[in-house]
Amino acid sequence: MTIPSENVRPAPLSADTTGVLRLPDQILFGAGSVASVPNLVQRHGSRALICSDPTMARTSTFLSLVEELQSRGVKVAVFAQGVPEVPLTVIGAAVQEARAFGPDVIVGFGGGSSLDLAKATALLITHPGPLSRYYGENLVPGPVCPLVAIPTTAGTGSEVTPVAVVSDPERLLKVGVSSPYLVPTYAVVDPSLTLGCPQVVSAHSGADALAHALESLTAGRRTPNWGEELPVFVGTNRLGRTLALEAVTAIASSLRRVVSDPADESARTSMSYASLCAAMSFGSAGTHLGHALQYSVGAATHTSHGLGVGLLLPYVLEVSRSAREADLLAVADALGVPSGSATDDRVTAVIDEVQSLFTDIGIPRSLAEIGADRAQLPAFAAQTSTFARLVQNAPVPADESLLLAILEAAWDGDRTRLSAQAGSR
Ligand SMILES: NC(=O)c1ccc[n+]([C@@H]2O[C@H](COP(=O)([O-])OP(=O)(O)OC[C@H]3O[C@@H](n4cnc5c(N)ncnc54)[C@H](O)[C@@H]3O)[C@@H](O)[C@H]2O)c1
Ligand SMILES: [Fe+2]
Repeated sequence: MTIPSENVRPAPLSADTTGVLRLPDQILFGAGSVASVPNLVQRHGSRALICSDPTMARTSTFLSLVEELQSRGVKVAVFAQGVPEVPLTVIGAAVQEARAFGPDVIVGFGGGSSLDLAKATALLITHPGPLSRYYGENLVPGPVCPLVAIPTTAGTGSEVTPVAVVSDPERLLKVGVSSPYLVPTYAVVDPSLTLGCPQVVSAHSGADALAHALESLTAGRRTPNWGEELPVFVGTNRLGRTLALEAVTAIASSLRRVVSDPADESARTSMSYASLCAAMSFGSAGTHLGHALQYSVGAATHTSHGLGVGLLLPYVLEVSRSAREADLLAVADALGVPSGSATDDRVTAVIDEVQSLFTDIGIPRSLAEIGADRAQLPAFAAQTSTFARLVQNAPVPADESLLLAILEAAWDGDRTRLSAQAGSR
């Protein structure tokens, strides 16, 4: 169904007075928690399909999990052909395997791509395809096959979100299915599974987690119309806010460490926790301009989701600061920004710190550095302005000219021109 635009009306910017959280039935967090998966599976039956990718399906934890399930009499089928930014052809193959096998429960084991593969498969063995009929918001008609989501990266938070992002060869950009029915039944977040995560994946997925926290914290403030079906993303709100702040605190203390020392278990634990908290927040609040712009940037430059949203985040915060100063000040302590300076300087220091954190983990500062063509920026802005769900979730009105201004500043790697522009708007 389509959501009437009057379903969410603007509210005063004074305070968060409402809250929405949609979460799995159970979230289990901690080293060793993957051992709980067989019990969770058996709550739903005796046939489990595990969706993963070739790298993760060779790990000893994965093999032990399969062995333990089988030793309990659970019939297991493994679909291990997942790939990053999962394409429809792979989802089609997984669905075919699922139909032949008839699972009672689907387990996603891997990074965001494998978890999104599991979600799309659970959707399509429960409801008729093609997947494209569900692109957008709130179009999934009802519950899907029970899902256990086990992340092996710390960043996307797909284990708790209502979203599956896929690549459709008929579309230039990646597409998303967003529905509360896609929130997994169980999220099992075992930080020890991220220990083998390559440095670049740790950096990019960690940047994604910070973007989830800060975009959900600075998303538009809206008053839900409680009598109507709510939009999937309701804007920033009181319940998500606490989680987003918690995520920023954990990321500030651990993101540099997981990149410089991938074997640092305490930093890995902290990042898995941060990713989980950030996703619990954005899964209901939503993200906004950085995530919207990344679709075009990522498609044109063939760069990862995390790299794109990380690179764009400081520019997005710069245009958001006029509306959301208090929220940016709220993360200043978490980011280690010294107190005592004037408000405006402190907000600048917050955004500087986000940028320097990303520089330290190898995220480039400019779109030019990742090969974006300057001449394409107006087309990116035009494309992005059609993503109403994300663009309207921004804290400031974001027309095509503002989107282009963000892209141009990001292309040059020069945030200051956005503060000048904000002053003149
Ligand atoms: N559903 C959501 O809510 C949501 C949110 C944000 C992003 N996403 C999507 O998630 C995808 C990105 O996911 P990602 O960043 O987790 O990466 P990924 O799942 O694409 O994995 C990247 C690579 O890292 C490898 N890898 C993952 N964990 C590993 C480990 N522990 N050890 C060794 N190798 C490991 C994988 O095998 C893969 O080759 C994108 O498609 C993005 O659009 C989804
Ligand atoms: Fe993201």
